[in-house]
Amino acid sequence: MAAAVTGASDADVLDRIRDGKLIETVDQMSDAYLEGIIRILTVSADTELISAPAYYNAARHAPSLNAFGSATAIIQDELGHAHIAYRLMRDLGVDTEEVIYERAPARFKYPYAFDVALDSWVELVVANAFYDRAGFTLLGDVFRTTTFGPWKRALVKVDKEETFHLRHGENWCRKIAQSAEGRDELQRAVDWMFLLTIEWFGLPDDLKRHGEQLNFGFKGQSNDELRQTWMSTAVPLAKELGLEVPARLDETSGKYVIDCPFPAQFDVENKRWLLGEGAISWDGVLSRWKDRGPMNEQYVETIQRGKRGLEQLIAQA
Ligand SMILES: [Fe+2]
Ligand SMILES: [Fe+2]
Repeated sequence: MAAAVTGASDADVLDRIRDGKLIETVDQMSDAYLEGIIRILTVSADTELISAPAYYNAARHAPSLNAFGSATAIIQDELGHAHIAYRLMRDLGVDTEEVIYERAPARFKYPYAFDVALDSWVELVVANAFYDRAGFTLLGDVFRTTTFGPWKRALVKVDKEETFHLRHGENWCRKIAQSAEGRDELQRAVDWMFLLTIEWFGLPDDLKRHGEQLNFGFKGQSNDELRQTWMSTAVPLAKELGLEVPARLDETSGKYVIDCPFPAQFDVENKRWLLGEGAISWDGVLSRWKDRGPMNEQYVETIQRGKRGLEQLIAQA
Protein backbone atom coordinates (compact mmCIF):
# COMPACT_ATOMS: atom_id res chain seq x y z
CA MET A 1 0.00 0.00 0.00
CA ALA A 2 1.64 3.27 -1.07
CA ALA A 3 1.78 5.94 1.60
CA ALA A 4 3.12 9.45 2.03
CA VAL A 5 6.73 10.31 2.88
CA THR A 6 7.30 10.55 6.61
CA GLY A 7 9.45 13.16 8.32
CA ALA A 8 10.34 11.86 11.78
CA SER A 9 12.17 9.02 13.52
CA ASP A 10 10.61 6.60 16.01
CA ALA A 11 12.42 8.50 18.78
CA ASP A 12 10.89 11.83 17.59
CA VAL A 13 7.43 10.26 17.65
CA LEU A 14 7.91 8.86 21.15
CA ASP A 15 9.28 12.23 22.39
CA ARG A 16 6.25 14.02 21.02
CA ILE A 17 3.91 11.52 22.66
CA ARG A 18 5.77 11.84 25.97
CA ASP A 19 5.28 15.61 25.80
CA GLY A 20 1.54 14.95 25.68
CA LYS A 21 1.17 16.15 22.08
CA LEU A 22 -0.85 14.43 19.40
CA ILE A 23 0.52 13.37 16.02
CA GLU A 24 -1.25 15.49 13.42
CA THR A 25 0.52 15.15 10.07
CA VAL A 26 2.65 12.67 8.12
CA ASP A 27 5.80 14.75 8.62
CA GLN A 28 5.42 14.16 12.37
CA MET A 29 5.29 10.37 11.78
CA SER A 30 8.00 7.75 11.45
CA ASP A 31 7.66 4.93 8.89
CA ALA A 32 6.67 2.46 11.62
CA TYR A 33 4.06 4.86 13.04
CA LEU A 34 2.59 5.48 9.58
CA GLU A 35 2.47 1.79 8.79
CA GLY A 36 0.87 0.99 12.15
CA ILE A 37 -1.78 3.70 11.97
CA ILE A 38 -2.68 2.70 8.40
CA ARG A 39 -3.03 -0.92 9.51
CA ILE A 40 -5.43 -0.12 12.36
CA LEU A 41 -7.38 2.41 10.25
CA THR A 42 -7.79 -0.21 7.50
CA VAL A 43 -9.32 -2.70 9.91
CA SER A 44 -11.65 -0.05 11.26
CA ALA A 45 -12.68 1.28 7.83
CA ASP A 46 -13.22 -2.21 6.36
CA THR A 47 -15.26 -3.29 9.38
CA GLU A 48 -17.55 -0.25 9.16
CA LEU A 49 -17.92 -0.66 5.39
CA ILE A 50 -18.79 -4.37 5.38
CA SER A 51 -21.23 -4.00 8.26
CA ALA A 52 -23.43 -2.02 5.82
CA PRO A 53 -24.26 -4.87 3.37
CA ALA A 54 -24.32 -7.35 6.28
CA TYR A 55 -26.92 -5.28 8.14
CA TYR A 56 -28.85 -4.53 4.97
CA ASN A 57 -29.18 -8.24 4.27
CA ALA A 58 -30.98 -8.65 7.60
CA ALA A 59 -32.81 -5.30 7.62
CA ARG A 60 -34.94 -6.59 4.73
CA HIS A 61 -36.66 -8.78 7.35
CA ALA A 62 -37.65 -5.76 9.48
CA PRO A 63 -41.02 -6.28 11.19
CA SER A 64 -42.27 -2.76 10.39
CA LEU A 65 -41.48 0.33 8.32
CA ASN A 66 -40.38 2.06 11.50
CA ALA A 67 -37.99 -0.76 12.33
CA PHE A 68 -36.66 -0.75 8.74
CA GLY A 69 -36.10 3.00 9.10
CA SER A 70 -33.99 2.62 12.23
CA ALA A 71 -31.98 -0.21 10.64
CA THR A 72 -31.26 1.89 7.54
CA ALA A 73 -30.26 4.82 9.80
CA ILE A 74 -27.69 2.50 11.40
CA ILE A 75 -26.46 1.41 7.95
CA GLN A 76 -26.08 5.05 6.95
CA ASP A 77 -24.07 5.72 10.13
CA GLU A 78 -21.77 2.79 9.34
CA LEU A 79 -21.09 4.11 5.83
CA GLY A 80 -20.31 7.48 7.42
CA HIS A 81 -17.87 5.80 9.83
CA ALA A 82 -16.21 3.97 6.94
CA HIS A 83 -15.94 7.23 5.02
CA ILE A 84 -14.19 8.95 7.97
CA ALA A 85 -11.58 6.19 8.30
CA TYR A 86 -10.89 5.91 4.53
CA ARG A 87 -10.66 9.71 4.29
CA LEU A 88 -7.98 9.71 7.03
CA MET A 89 -6.14 6.98 5.12
CA ARG A 90 -6.31 9.05 1.94
CA ASP A 91 -4.77 12.00 3.79
CA LEU A 92 -1.94 9.61 4.73
CA GLY A 93 -1.26 8.87 1.07
CA VAL A 94 -3.26 5.66 0.61
CA ASP A 95 -5.01 5.19 -2.74
CA THR A 96 -8.44 4.56 -1.22
CA GLU A 97 -10.20 4.21 -4.58
CA GLU A 98 -8.01 1.19 -5.21
CA VAL A 99 -8.43 -0.06 -1.64
CA ILE A 100 -12.24 0.14 -1.71
CA TYR A 101 -13.11 -0.67 -5.31
CA GLU A 102 -10.32 -2.82 -6.66
CA ARG A 103 -9.07 -4.86 -3.73
CA ALA A 104 -9.78 -8.59 -3.86
CA PRO A 105 -12.51 -9.58 -1.33
CA ALA A 106 -10.18 -11.88 0.61
CA ARG A 107 -7.83 -8.97 1.28
CA PHE A 108 -10.40 -6.95 3.21
CA LYS A 109 -9.56 -6.84 6.92
CA TYR A 110 -12.78 -7.00 8.93
CA PRO A 111 -13.75 -9.52 11.62
CA TYR A 112 -14.74 -12.98 10.44
CA ALA A 113 -18.12 -12.59 12.19
CA PHE A 114 -19.37 -10.41 9.31
CA ASP A 115 -18.64 -13.21 6.83
CA VAL A 116 -21.48 -15.20 8.35
CA ALA A 117 -24.89 -14.07 7.06
CA LEU A 118 -27.35 -12.33 9.35
CA ASP A 119 -30.57 -13.92 8.15
CA SER A 120 -33.30 -12.44 10.32
CA TRP A 121 -34.39 -9.40 12.28
CA VAL A 122 -33.47 -11.23 15.50
CA GLU A 123 -29.94 -11.85 14.23
CA LEU A 124 -29.65 -8.19 13.22
CA VAL A 125 -30.60 -6.89 16.68
CA VAL A 126 -28.26 -9.40 18.38
CA ALA A 127 -25.55 -8.09 16.03
CA ASN A 128 -26.36 -4.57 17.22
CA ALA A 129 -26.18 -5.74 20.83
CA PHE A 130 -22.96 -7.77 20.35
CA TYR A 131 -21.06 -6.59 17.26
CA ASP A 132 -21.76 -2.87 17.67
CA ARG A 133 -20.79 -3.28 21.33
CA ALA A 134 -17.47 -4.75 20.13
CA GLY A 135 -17.02 -1.79 17.78
CA PHE A 136 -17.91 0.60 20.59
CA THR A 137 -15.44 -1.15 22.94
CA LEU A 138 -12.60 -0.98 20.41
CA LEU A 139 -13.27 2.55 19.16
CA GLY A 140 -13.98 3.88 22.66
CA ASP A 141 -10.51 2.67 23.62
CA VAL A 142 -8.98 4.27 20.50
CA PHE A 143 -10.86 7.51 21.23
CA ARG A 144 -9.47 7.70 24.78
CA THR A 145 -5.89 6.78 23.99
CA THR A 146 -4.99 7.31 20.35
CA THR A 147 -2.08 9.64 19.65
CA PHE A 148 -3.33 10.36 16.11
CA GLY A 149 -5.17 13.69 16.48
CA PRO A 150 -7.44 13.67 13.39
CA TRP A 151 -8.87 10.24 14.30
CA LYS A 152 -9.34 11.15 17.95
CA ARG A 153 -11.47 14.16 17.00
CA ALA A 154 -13.51 12.24 14.42
CA LEU A 155 -14.35 9.51 16.92
CA VAL A 156 -16.46 11.84 19.09
CA LYS A 157 -19.29 11.48 16.55
CA VAL A 158 -18.65 7.77 15.90
CA ASP A 159 -18.77 6.93 19.61
CA LYS A 160 -22.19 8.57 20.05
CA GLU A 161 -23.63 6.74 17.04
CA GLU A 162 -22.27 3.35 18.14
CA THR A 163 -24.00 3.90 21.49
CA PHE A 164 -27.26 4.34 19.60
CA HIS A 165 -26.64 1.13 17.64
CA LEU A 166 -26.02 -1.02 20.69
CA ARG A 167 -28.98 0.48 22.57
CA HIS A 168 -31.12 -0.28 19.51
CA GLY A 169 -29.97 -3.88 19.81
CA GLU A 170 -30.61 -4.05 23.56
CA ASN A 171 -34.07 -2.53 23.33
CA TRP A 172 -35.15 -4.91 20.59
CA CYS A 173 -33.69 -7.90 22.45
CA ARG A 174 -35.68 -6.94 25.58
CA LYS A 175 -38.85 -6.66 23.53
CA ILE A 176 -38.31 -10.00 21.77
CA ALA A 177 -37.32 -11.78 25.02
CA GLN A 178 -40.77 -11.15 26.50
CA SER A 179 -42.14 -14.34 24.93
CA ALA A 180 -40.74 -17.88 25.24
CA GLU A 181 -40.62 -18.19 21.43
CA GLY A 182 -38.76 -14.90 21.18
CA ARG A 183 -36.29 -15.99 23.84
CA ASP A 184 -35.70 -19.28 22.00
CA GLU A 185 -34.92 -17.46 18.79
CA LEU A 186 -32.61 -15.03 20.58
CA GLN A 187 -30.86 -18.00 22.20
CA ARG A 188 -30.30 -19.61 18.79
CA ALA A 189 -28.70 -16.39 17.54
CA VAL A 190 -26.61 -15.91 20.67
CA ASP A 191 -25.40 -19.54 20.46
CA TRP A 192 -23.36 -18.80 17.33
CA MET A 193 -22.82 -15.05 17.65
CA PHE A 194 -21.41 -14.85 21.19
CA LEU A 195 -18.18 -16.77 20.55
CA LEU A 196 -17.68 -15.07 17.17
CA THR A 197 -17.69 -11.74 19.02
CA ILE A 198 -15.28 -13.08 21.66
CA GLU A 199 -12.94 -14.03 18.76
CA TRP A 200 -13.35 -10.53 17.29
CA PHE A 201 -10.82 -9.09 19.77
CA GLY A 202 -8.09 -11.21 18.22
CA LEU A 203 -5.23 -13.30 19.48
CA PRO A 204 -4.72 -13.55 23.24
CA ASP A 205 -2.03 -11.22 24.59
CA ASP A 206 0.58 -13.96 24.96
CA LEU A 207 0.37 -14.74 21.21
CA LYS A 208 -0.04 -11.18 19.96
CA ARG A 209 2.29 -9.71 17.33
CA HIS A 210 1.77 -6.00 16.60
CA GLY A 211 3.47 -4.50 19.68
CA GLU A 212 3.72 -1.03 18.20
CA GLN A 213 -0.02 -0.58 18.63
CA LEU A 214 0.65 -0.13 22.34
CA ASN A 215 4.06 1.60 22.15
CA PHE A 216 2.83 4.33 19.84
CA GLY A 217 -0.40 4.74 21.73
CA PHE A 218 -2.79 3.71 18.96
CA LYS A 219 -4.85 1.94 21.57
CA GLY A 220 -4.80 1.63 25.36
CA GLN A 221 -6.15 -1.78 26.29
CA SER A 222 -4.72 -5.10 25.12
CA ASN A 223 -6.82 -7.68 23.24
CA ASP A 224 -7.56 -9.62 26.42
CA GLU A 225 -8.48 -6.46 28.32
CA LEU A 226 -10.82 -5.38 25.51
CA ARG A 227 -12.42 -8.84 25.56
CA GLN A 228 -12.99 -8.40 29.31
CA THR A 229 -14.49 -4.94 28.77
CA TRP A 230 -16.90 -6.35 26.19
CA MET A 231 -17.92 -9.30 28.39
CA SER A 232 -18.43 -7.01 31.40
CA THR A 233 -21.59 -5.62 29.77
CA ALA A 234 -22.50 -8.31 27.21
CA VAL A 235 -22.67 -11.17 29.74
CA PRO A 236 -24.92 -9.26 32.21
CA LEU A 237 -27.17 -8.31 29.26
CA ALA A 238 -27.55 -11.97 28.28
CA LYS A 239 -28.34 -12.84 31.89
CA GLU A 240 -30.97 -10.09 32.12
CA LEU A 241 -32.59 -11.47 28.95
CA GLY A 242 -32.64 -15.00 30.39
CA LEU A 243 -30.14 -16.25 27.78
CA GLU A 244 -27.32 -18.73 28.27
CA VAL A 245 -23.80 -17.72 27.24
CA PRO A 246 -20.60 -19.71 27.77
CA ALA A 247 -18.94 -17.13 30.04
CA ARG A 248 -19.28 -16.13 33.69
CA LEU A 249 -17.78 -13.78 36.24
CA ASP A 250 -15.17 -15.48 38.40
CA GLU A 251 -15.72 -13.90 41.82
CA THR A 252 -12.18 -14.58 43.05
CA SER A 253 -10.30 -12.92 40.18
CA GLY A 254 -13.06 -10.44 39.33
CA LYS A 255 -12.59 -11.47 35.69
CA TYR A 256 -14.87 -13.07 33.15
CA VAL A 257 -13.93 -16.58 32.16
CA ILE A 258 -15.04 -18.48 29.07
CA ASP A 259 -16.37 -21.80 30.25
CA CYS A 260 -16.46 -23.80 27.03
CA PRO A 261 -13.70 -25.04 24.72
CA PHE A 262 -12.19 -21.89 23.19
CA PRO A 263 -11.06 -21.18 20.56
CA ALA A 264 -13.21 -23.78 18.83
CA GLN A 265 -14.09 -25.22 15.44
CA PHE A 266 -16.98 -23.39 13.72
CA ASP A 267 -19.33 -25.18 11.33
CA VAL A 268 -20.10 -22.16 9.19
CA GLU A 269 -22.66 -23.87 6.94
CA ASN A 270 -24.87 -24.63 9.92
CA LYS A 271 -23.77 -21.61 11.99
CA ARG A 272 -22.85 -23.80 14.95
CA TRP A 273 -19.82 -24.36 17.20
CA LEU A 274 -18.42 -27.90 17.34
CA LEU A 275 -17.70 -27.65 21.05
CA GLY A 276 -17.82 -31.43 21.47
CA GLU A 277 -14.56 -31.63 19.49
CA GLY A 278 -12.74 -29.61 22.15
CA ALA A 279 -10.56 -26.51 21.86
CA ILE A 280 -8.44 -25.89 18.77
CA SER A 281 -5.26 -23.81 18.38
CA TRP A 282 -5.32 -20.13 17.38
CA ASP A 283 -3.52 -21.22 14.20
CA GLY A 284 -6.72 -23.00 13.25
CA VAL A 285 -8.71 -19.81 13.86
CA LEU A 286 -6.22 -17.71 11.88
CA SER A 287 -6.49 -20.02 8.91
CA ARG A 288 -10.34 -19.86 9.00
CA TRP A 289 -10.08 -16.05 9.13
CA LYS A 290 -7.61 -16.00 6.24
CA ASP A 291 -9.87 -18.15 4.05
CA ARG A 292 -12.72 -15.74 4.88
CA GLY A 293 -16.33 -16.91 5.19
CA PRO A 294 -19.33 -17.42 2.91
CA MET A 295 -20.53 -13.79 2.56
CA ASN A 296 -17.13 -12.17 1.92
CA GLU A 297 -17.31 -12.08 -1.87
CA GLN A 298 -20.96 -11.13 -2.05
CA TYR A 299 -20.63 -8.20 0.37
CA VAL A 300 -17.51 -6.82 -1.31
CA GLU A 301 -19.19 -7.25 -4.71
CA THR A 302 -22.20 -5.26 -3.41
CA ILE A 303 -19.83 -2.39 -2.60
CA GLN A 304 -17.74 -2.59 -5.79
CA ARG A 305 -20.22 -3.34 -8.57
CA GLY A 306 -21.85 0.12 -8.75
CA LYS A 307 -18.59 1.83 -9.59
CA ARG A 308 -17.68 -0.81 -12.18
CA GLY A 309 -21.11 -0.57 -13.79
CA LEU A 310 -20.93 3.21 -14.06
CA GLU A 311 -17.43 3.10 -15.53
CA GLN A 312 -18.62 0.66 -18.21
CA LEU A 313 -21.63 2.85 -18.94
CA ILE A 314 -19.46 5.93 -19.38
CA ALA A 315 -16.91 4.04 -21.52
CA GLN A 316 -19.71 3.02 -23.93
CA ALA A 317 -20.78 6.63 -24.51
FE1 LIG B 1 -19.78 2.01 13.05
FE1 LIG C 1 -22.40 0.44 14.56
